[in-house]
Parts: sequence; structure tokens; C-alpha cells
Amino acid sequence: MKRKILVTSGLPYANGHIHIGHLVEYIQTDIWVRFQKLVGNDAVFICGDDTHGTTMMLRARAEGCSEESIIERMHAAHVRDFSGFDVNFDYYGTTHCEENRQLCNEIWAAIKKAGLIEEREIEQLYDVEANTFLADRFVKGTCPVCGKKDQFGDNCECGAHYSPTDLADVVSTITGTKPELRKAKHLFVNIEREHKFLDQWVHSGTLQPEIANYLTGQFLNNDLRFWDVSRPAPYFGFEIPDSPNNYWYVWFDAPTGYIAATWQWCKLRGLDFGDFWRNPNTEVHHFIGKDITYFHTLFWPVMLKVAGLTLPKKVHIHGFLTVNGEKMAKRRGTFILASTFLKHLNPAYLRYFYAAKTTGRVDDLDLNFEELENRVNSDLVGNLVNIASRTAKFVQKIGLSASYPDDGGLFAQGVSAGNEIVDAYENCDYGKVIRLVMECGNRANKFIDNAAPWQIRDDANRQQELQDICTIGLNLFRQMIVYLLPILPSLKSDVERLLNVEICNWDDSGKQIVGTKVSPYKHLITRVERAAIERIVEESKQPETGNSNNNSTNSNNTAANNTAADTANNALKFQDSDEALKAEPLLVERVSIDDFTKVDLRVARVIEAEEVEGARKLLKLRLSLGGDEQRQVFAGIKSAYKASELVGRLVVCVANLQPRQMKFGLSEGMVVAAGGGGNEIFLISPDNGAKPGMRLH
Ligand code: 2FM
Ligand code: ZN
Repeated sequence: MKRKILVTSGLPYANGHIHIGHLVEYIQTDIWVRFQKLVGNDAVFICGDDTHGTTMMLRARAEGCSEESIIERMHAAHVRDFSGFDVNFDYYGTTHCEENRQLCNEIWAAIKKAGLIEEREIEQLYDVEANTFLADRFVKGTCPVCGKKDQFGDNCECGAHYSPTDLADVVSTITGTKPELRKAKHLFVNIEREHKFLDQWVHSGTLQPEIANYLTGQFLNNDLRFWDVSRPAPYFGFEIPDSPNNYWYVWFDAPTGYIAATWQWCKLRGLDFGDFWRNPNTEVHHFIGKDITYFHTLFWPVMLKVAGLTLPKKVHIHGFLTVNGEKMAKRRGTFILASTFLKHLNPAYLRYFYAAKTTGRVDDLDLNFEELENRVNSDLVGNLVNIASRTAKFVQKIGLSASYPDDGGLFAQGVSAGNEIVDAYENCDYGKVIRLVMECGNRANKFIDNAAPWQIRDDANRQQELQDICTIGLNLFRQMIVYLLPILPSLKSDVERLLNVEICNWDDSGKQIVGTKVSPYKHLITRVERAAIERIVEESKQPETGNSNNNSTNSNNTAANNTAADTANNALKFQDSDEALKAEPLLVERVSIDDFTKVDLRVARVIEAEEVEGARKLLKLRLSLGGDEQRQVFAGIKSAYKASELVGRLVVCVANLQPRQMKFGLSEGMVVAAGGGGNEIFLISPDNGAKPGMRLH
């Protein structure tokens, strides 16, 4: 029976770009979802940006712009990077949306009604100049245990854990001033009241056994500490409706973002999100990094349960990425942005390599460049593609045999491997998938070696034999392609073009194709160029600018090393990192003239402009680019322009931007404007005489 499956990856923070550490998770999830869709399940892949918290607030202050403008820019950058790696979300939302606020209100009301909220006064360091309370990561001082200077507020390089108030010579990392101790009221959730439920849920098969054991040993064997879920103003997030001047801590409204994004996606399609989140027949699967286990396995299930929402069927937890055996590092050139990789190498290489290394266990994954090169060259070029490149050319004129020849059981062997491959995909053991598929390839290549079609190509009496050999080779090749499609989706259209038969679903792996045409063979995958890897590393080299633990996949902090007492502090560390303080403007990097000319900037005339119901900042524009070429563009300029005053004016449009499905419709470009947002937005217009359609140089 068709399963109804909702899948999420962790929501990346909106304050940093996507890098190869993040991609471990998104590629792993994307493969799983593509597999589920290919076998005919009803799967939806939901994700979005995690936008709230102190870091975002400080970054906006530092850049002198609104948080919303950063969120918007980063959303576009994230969508672009993910699509570059063929990570195919059904919907990519944001936690900063009204649906999320409403959900938080509802879940909060339910938790409150269940009597789980308590108010307590706590003391925390406060930066008077920056006018903000300081999370541990924003405090530095001298370690109270070993006396080492310049240590963060939660732990020291010597291994000591302490509270920030224990540090000597304490300073705020935001302003460098000495913080003072202030009292503030915080709201706490008494999760201990749901201890029994968690005991049962944690061991219900939802979690990998090592995770269930860790949670039991570290948390569930003791009383559960109350969860501090509010932050006093100033804080960038949602204000708690019944507690003015207090905001939900970012980890309250981050996972609710999974539901909010589903809701937005459902609205676009006229569906009811309750079919997913209030439906015991829907399987919810979360994919996350091990550092955020605590939030997804203790707080989140309690929030869901109390609010009567669907609990996850499975939380798939993965380890961190290391590069050449070490933590990613800017100075070594191994802190590689997704966009840098895409500039130099085929993303299929990374998808394949990560898949080969994914086991479904919590272990860390090491990316070794030499191994990537060898793996891709030997498996994909030397094994998989080799089958097609050695056979297709001989049947280009005559096509495949009219009936499937006797292949000595090779195709049938592939079909039976298919059953094991299905299980391996389901268990996220993609390493096993690849082993099994490569075994199919070895058998196929051996068959071709023995049959040696090149020796009989010119023998007029053996043309049927030649056609049969190639028919077998190409069928075995196509079977492997179907098996690998979740990992290498970009091959689909090329293989369909080569063999002139569509690949519709998993069952095609068991169907032989006969009597069809074969198109001229073009390279499907080329060898990895070592020089390209070197260029990536070179381009990624930068001096280390401090802490880079701003994501769930690049840190060496393992959940398993945390003690119950410091986990909450670590949680802050991951969100409230000092990333914002680096004077790195967003999206500013040098581009070559070639990069620049890739952007198709064109003069356009606004022929229609209207407000968008329900959108605070958007105007919907129809642009004419000359002739019949038109674009629909949603532009965030409503705060500065009236729709009616725009009709007829010339603007500059980015004409080759990847179209983006927004909540309100498809946006097929962008208009170019200057300024920082609000009423400070200035559309750029060409001088008199310019005509719609002209390209900018
Ligand atoms: O660790 C992180 O990168 C978080 N932004 C993940 C949030 S996942 C979910 F809860 F939103
Ligand atoms: Zn120390």
C-alpha cells in the first residue's frame, strides 16, 4: 500500500551560507525522498530557513538593515545552492512567517492548558551598551579552573564546564565591555511531567539504538530539567502573546517551522495540513545532525504530543563531516561553500561520494578528496558509464534487438539484487546500495569483456550477435541507472535521451527494453579533474575568523559527549554563535567577468502592478522584456512604492534567475533596486532612450 510520508531536514540557520557540511544531511534526505517517490509512495519533502535568535538581531544591527532583508537574501541564496545540488524540496519555507506564529500560539496554549509552564527569575549577564542579555557564547573570560584567558562562557579548552558568572575578567564579545548581572523572568516548560511518555517514545523504534541509549543514560535516568523557553527583549523572534516583552527562544519556533512550511505548501495546493500533522496514518520522518538530538527527541515530542500533533515515526540522526580526517577549517581551505563547489565540480560527484559513505548510523563521515576522485572515476566512469560507452555506439544505427536475448541470467540477478537495494535505501544504508549496484556493473562489464563486441563490429555475418550483446549491455546499464536515480537524478534525462525510453518508476528496473532506437552516445559523466579540486581548496582558503559552529554539521561537539548539565548551554552555543560579529558582509565575494556576464540583466517595462493579498511587502509585477517576452515578478518593494505609480516605468530585471515558487505564485525574475529596505528602496532605471529587452553590459 502507498505510504503517506512527510520528510524534513533540519532547518538551516538563515545567517550563514550552505556549505559541504550541511550538504551531508540535505543530500542524504533528498536521496531518501527521491527513493520513496520512485517506489510510488506519497512523499513530501519540507524544509526552510531557521531565522530567529540573537545572532540574527546582532547581524541586522551590524549591517544597518532589517532582519527581514537578511532573511530574504539568504533564503534566495539557500534555495539556489540546494537546487544546484539537486536537493529537491517540495517546499522551502521560513520560520519567520505568520503561519509559524499562529502555530506557536496554538502549541503554547496547549502546553499552558496542560499546566506545564512555570515562571522563574534567573540571573544572567547583561551587556549594557548592546542592550542585550548575553548567551554563553557572547561572553569571554578567564577559566576558573585552569586560569586560561579568553575562554567562552560555558566551557574551556581544558575541558572544564562552568557557568558564565564563574569566569574571571568577564567581557561581552559584542562590545568588549564588562557585563553586569541582571535578573529577568523566564518561562520554563516542565517536561518532567511527560517523563513516562518520553521513556516509552524513545524506545518505540523511532530512534537508532545508540541514540535511545544515550538519551536514557544522559537524561531519562534522572529527573528532566525544566526547559527555559523564553528570552527577554530585545530578541528577534515572536513575542509570547501572554507575556509581553518576552520572546520564544529560537528552539521553540524552529521545529514548528516544519509544520508552518507544510501549512504554506498545503495552502498553495488547497490541501489540509491536518492530513499530515493531525493524522496517525502519516509517517513523519526527521533527518537531523547528532548535535540537535536533544531538541528533537525530548522537547519536540512533548510539544507535539501535548498539542495533539503527529509524532515522528522516525528521527534519522547522522554524524558530522570531517574533511581529510579533520574538522572543516577556513585556513586549510576545507570550509567549502556549496557555491564554490558548484563553480568547479559536478555536484553529482559529491552526491555519489556522500551516498557511498552513508550507512544509516550516527558515525561521522569523512570526505577525502583523493578518495572522492578514485571513487567517482572507478565506480561511475570506469564501471557504470563504461557499460554504455562500450556498447551504445555499435547499435546507434540499428537500435536494440527485437526480443531480449539470453543473457545467462544477468538481468534476473540484477532484479533480485533490487530487493536488497530497496531495503538498503529504506534504512539509509546507501553505501550498501552502491556496493550492490557496482556488483551488477562488475558482472555486466565482465560479460562485455568476454563478448568483445568491438571484435565483431565489422563482421557482416555476426550483426545479430553484435546487436544482442549491446542489447544486454544497455539493459543492464539501464537497470543500474534506475537503482541509482535517487543518488544521481541528473542522469535520468541523459539516459532517456540515449535509449529513447522514459524511466517512470522503480519497476522499470525489472523491465527489459527491446526494439527501440539508440541515440548517439554522449559522455554521461566525466572523470574528476584533480586540478578542479585544487581550485576549490585554494578558493576556500581564508584566515580563521573564530568560532564557526553555526550549523549542525560542522561541529566536533558530539551529542554523546555532552552531559545533562551543559546540554542546554550547548544549545545556545549553536544558535547564538559569534558568527554575526565577523565583519563579513553577506553575499559579497569577488566574481570573474565570466560570472558577471552570466547574469542576464535587461531593461524591462512594468506593464501591470498590483498588491498581493496577504503579503506585507510584495508587489506583483508583470514585466515586458520587449516583443512577447514577459515575466511575472514578486518584488519586496511595497514599503517604498505604490503599485499604481509603477505601471509604465522602465526598470532593470534579472531575466535568467531560476524561477522561484512563492506562496503567492511563481516569481520569474527580480527587479534591481538599491537601499536597505523599508522606505529606503530605490528602483534602478535606465536613461532615456533605453528600450525593453536591451541587455545591460
Ligand atoms: O542546528 C541548526 O542548524 C538548526 N538551525 C536546526 C533547526 S532544525 C528545526 F528544529 F528547525
Ligand atoms: Zn580551563
